[in-house]
Amino acid sequence: MGLKTVVYFLPRPPKKVFVKAEELPPAGTLKVKEEFFMVRPSDGHLRILSRRCPHLGCTVNYSSGEDLFICPCHQSRFALTGAYLSGPAKKDLVKIKWEKVEGGIILEIPG
Ligand code: FES
Repeated sequence: MGLKTVVYFLPRPPKKVFVKAEELPPAGTLKVKEEFFMVRPSDGHLRILSRRCPHLGCTVNYSSGEDLFICPCHQSRFALTGAYLSGPAKKDLVKIKWEKVEGGIILEIPG
């Protein structure tokens, strides 16, 4: 009987990021950051979405022409809510948890 090697990948801990209040998007706009989108529809409710594509992890871009998020690798498309629309991803963009703190918000980006 031979020995088998089992490899475990431990999840990385979430990364906390502080965003100053003045860097948040005004109602009806969005901002594109390196790792996430900050979307604030006209109702003013702030939504933070990961830019990591749920398919194979490419960085999703914002298409102003179509007003959608589109992955450049295999063309998965997502609504500004993060909802999956089409392509091989088959899942929504991950919503990033955030909390309001003095002078801004703190995000918890999954590892
Ligand atoms: S990695 Fe985004 S669609 Fe494949």
